[in-house]
Amino acid sequence: MEDRTVRKGIVLAGGTGSRLYPVTRSISKQLLPVYDKPMVYYPLSTLMLAGIRQILLISTPQDIGLFERLLGDGRQLGIEISYAIQPQPEGLPQALVIGRKFISDDNVALILGDNIFFGHGFQAMLVKAAQRPQGATIFSYVVKDPGRFGVVELDPAGQPVTLEEKPSAPRSNLAVTGLYFFDSRAVEIAASLTPSKRGETEILDVIRAYQSLGELSVQQLGRGFAWLDTGTLESLMLAGSFIQTIEQRQGLKIACIEEVAYQKGFITRDQLMTLSAPLNNEYGDYLRASASDGLSMRALSDKPRE
Ligand code: G1P
Repeated sequence: MEDRTVRKGIVLAGGTGSRLYPVTRSISKQLLPVYDKPMVYYPLSTLMLAGIRQILLISTPQDIGLFERLLGDGRQLGIEISYAIQPQPEGLPQALVIGRKFISDDNVALILGDNIFFGHGFQAMLVKAAQRPQGATIFSYVVKDPGRFGVVELDPAGQPVTLEEKPSAPRSNLAVTGLYFFDSRAVEIAASLTPSKRGETEILDVIRAYQSLGELSVQQLGRGFAWLDTGTLESLMLAGSFIQTIEQRQGLKIACIEEVAYQKGFITRDQLMTLSAPLNNEYGDYLRASASDGLSMRALSDKPRE
C-alpha cells in the first residue's frame, strides 16, 4: 500500500492577539517568550517530534517577516520552512485553504501557534497519528473550563458523539486541543465551509465532516499530560513557570528545536555545534552539552533510563 505518512505540517500563527494588548500590539503573540524560548518553538517542536520536516508557517502580513527572521528557511534545523500570509483571520480552516498548494495531495498536520504540549509518550502518539493513512485524528484533554474551547463528548468506547465550539453548557470536560491530523480531503472540506455565527469558519466543522464519515479518531491525552494555555496574561505566565519548573528540575529543555532536530537525525552534531556558537548563554551551553554528552538522548526517549 502507498505510504501516506504525514510529512507536512502547518503552524498557524495568525490572529491579532487582542486579548493580550498592549503586549501584543506590536508583536505577534506567538513570538512572545514562554520562559526561555519564543512560543512558536513549542508547536514547531511538536511537528518535528512527529517526524515532520516540511513546514508551512502562516501569519499576518505584519508579523510574517519576524517569523522568517527567527526561523529562516529551516535548513539550519534540517527542515524546510515556507511562509504564507493570512490577510485576515477568517477561521482556523482557512489555514488549510491557504496551504492548498503546499498540501497538494498529501496528508497534513495542523497546529495552532500558541499550543504547548508536554508529556511522557507524546512522541509515540504523534508518530502513530502521522501514520494513519486516512481520516482525521484529534487530541482531547480534560480541562476545568471546557466552555472556552472546542468540546468533544465521547461514548464509553471512546468514539466521538458530539463536537461543539465553546458551548455554554458543555457536554463533557474534554477540550479539543489545537493539533489536528487530516488526510488531503480536509482542504476541500475547509473550502466548502460557511462562516458560523461568530463570523468565522470553524475547525470543528472540518472535524465533524470526518466524524460523519466514521473516520475521526480521538486520542485522549491523560492526566499526566500538560496542554498549556497562553490565551490570557495569567495563563501565559503560568505556562512559563511550568516550563521553568520542569527545565530547572531536570536540566533538560522542553521544545528546544535545535536539540529535537539533532535527536531526530535532521542535523549532525557539527551542525548543532554551529547553531550553538553564537549563543553565549545558558541556551547555547545546553546545545553544546546536548551535542557532547547525549544528555538529550534521554530527554527525547519515551522510555525510562536503564
Ligand atoms: C481554537 C479552536 C478550539 C480549540 C482551541 C485550542 O479556539 O476553535 O476548538 O479548542 O483553538 O487552542 P481559539 O483559541 O482560536 O478561540
